[in-house]
Order: sequence, then structure tokens, then C-alpha cells
Amino acid sequence: MTDTRIETPALFEAEPDTDTGPILGPTGRPLPDLPEPPPPPQGSRRALIIAMCNQKGGVGKTTTTINLGAALAETGRRVLLVDFDPQGSLSVGLGINPHTLETSIYNLLLTRDHDVHDIITESVVEGLDILPANIDLSAAEVQLVSEVAREQTLKRVLAQVRGEYDIILIDCAPSLGLLTVNALTAADRVLMPLECEFFALRGLALLNDTIGKVQDRLNPELGILGILGTMYDARTVHSREVLDRVVQAFGEKVFHTVIRRTIKFPETTVAGEPITTYATTSPGATAYRMLAREVLDRCPGA
Ligand SMILES: Nc1ncnc2c1ncn2[C@@H]1O[C@H](COP(=O)(O)OP(=O)(O)OP(=O)(O)O)[C@@H](O)[C@H]1O
Ligand SMILES: [Mg+2]
Repeated sequence: MTDTRIETPALFEAEPDTDTGPILGPTGRPLPDLPEPPPPPQGSRRALIIAMCNQKGGVGKTTTTINLGAALAETGRRVLLVDFDPQGSLSVGLGINPHTLETSIYNLLLTRDHDVHDIITESVVEGLDILPANIDLSAAEVQLVSEVAREQTLKRVLAQVRGEYDIILIDCAPSLGLLTVNALTAADRVLMPLECEFFALRGLALLNDTIGKVQDRLNPELGILGILGTMYDARTVHSREVLDRVVQAFGEKVFHTVIRRTIKFPETTVAGEPITTYATTSPGATAYRMLAREVLDRCPGA
């Protein structure tokens, strides 16, 4: 599709210092000089599993899962995206109609009759696969309660394919219920997208508390990969203030990459493809490629 619209300025764009000081990024810190993404590791695979988590709705979890996944796949890595939200937005965003799915991740969680490979679907992007979900998954939250080792259910499913991918990204639902606890139990790292608006910080204490409990009781290996500022509007003082406060509170955990608010992202959902293919040179696509570099830099060997 030809794009004639004028986009907001490039993200990660330098804000020149008046003197000869370091070049500051949107988070007010000197920009790192990140290397080109290294090629995927050779030899036997064991995917790094990252959960996209924030119980607040509409903060960019699904958008980040799709576009970070696509940017990682561009580096030659094999990436699996797991839709773990009964809304099925990840599936929709990659052109799958959740209502017409006969089988989905739900069947893998609750029965042993299905092969995970039959449910995984290829996306339009080479190297990017998806494990889709639909509204059936909402029943799993209730049905899993009576299962043995109910918090480890997703971990067991993903163990079957972990050797076939370099990275697995789990798109969590906006809640801290049993499904999200399953995602945190299966994951090595959590990435928290955070909308750059005032109330965004409020829910973080609760999320941190849940992560702490999962670390204590279920998954001691779980670590925080980083906090990603999303829906950033450089024209407002407000967005900048929120980002400043997040950096004050979380320091180096905050990614240098910040995702700006742009209409391109809702458009990609309608198109059913990632921004990296829909508007490949747009600032949004560049931002997610930058995030992929930061993620790989923070996870050597992935
Ligand atoms: N950077 C952005 N700029 C503008 N719109 C965006 C941006 N990121 C996401 N959106 C839009 O905001 C809406 C919510 O985004 P998304 O679905 O990624 O959030 P979410 O955290 O997954 O939501 P939910 O909690 O409901 O699962 C979507 O319509 C999406 O297209
Ligand atoms: Mg979502």
C-alpha cells in the first residue's frame, strides 16, 4: 500500500544537546550505541520465553508482541507468538479470525488429544508462527482451577515446542488471574508495556507483587526484561513527565526505545500484519526493530 501520509518524526531521534554533551534519547538518558542484531545462535535451540504483561487494558501488549516478534523474526530467528488472551487480539492482528478456529490453545491446555503442531499456524512473516486463541480460553481460567499443577499448564504445552524456536512471546490478557500466572510461570522474562499517561504507574505495584509471588513460589528464574514506554506523544509535556517518573523509579530497566502514538498501529490491525511489513520504513517499524536490538542485547545467547 502506498503511503502518502506525513508521519510524526522518527523515534529514537536524537534530541541534540546544546553543548557537545551526549545525545539524549526520549527517556532523557544518553542513547546506547547498540550493535547490529547478532545472527541467531547455532546448534540446538531452547527458546527464550518472554511474557508481555500488564493488567491494565489497552497499553500495547498485543501490539508489542506482534511487532517485536516480527522484528525478531527479521533477524533470522524463529519466533512463536502465543495468544494467551480470550479476546484473541493477537490472532486478529495477524489475520486469523478467532471465531472460525476449531482448535486453539484452549484445547492444548485442557486435553491431551491434540498435537501442538496442528494448532500452530504460520503468519505472513517468514519465521513467525502463532499459537492462536479465542473466547474458549476464558473457560480455561475456571476449568484449570481444579487441575493438578494448574499454574504449570502453559509451561508444559510450550515445553513441547521450545526446541523449535529461538524466542517465544506470550501475549497476556489484561488481568492477573490464573492465565497470567501460567504465563509468568512459563516465562524466563517479563516485558511490561506502559502507556505514557498519568495513571499508568498505579498498577505497577500490583504487577510487581504478582511477579514477586511467582518468583517465590513457582518460577525462581523469572526476571524482569524491561519496561517499555508506549503511546508516547512527544508534543505533550505530560508524556515526557510520565516517562521521566518511570525512569526515576525503574532506572535502567526502562528501555531506551519508546513507542510513539501513531494511527499506523490501529491500521496494521485492520490489515492483519505487523508494522514491519505494512509500513516497513515507518518510525513505528523502526522503533520495534530498535526494541528487538535492545532485547537481544539484554539477553545474550537468545
Ligand atoms: N503506539 C501506538 N499508537 C497508537 N495506537 C496504538 C499504539 N499501540 C497500540 N495502539 C492501539 O491501541 C489499542 C490497544 O493496543 P493493544 O491491543 O496492543 O493493547 P493491549 O495492552 O494488548 O490491550 P488489551 O489489554 O485489551 O489486551 C489498539 O487499537 C492498538 O492498535
Ligand atoms: Mg492485548
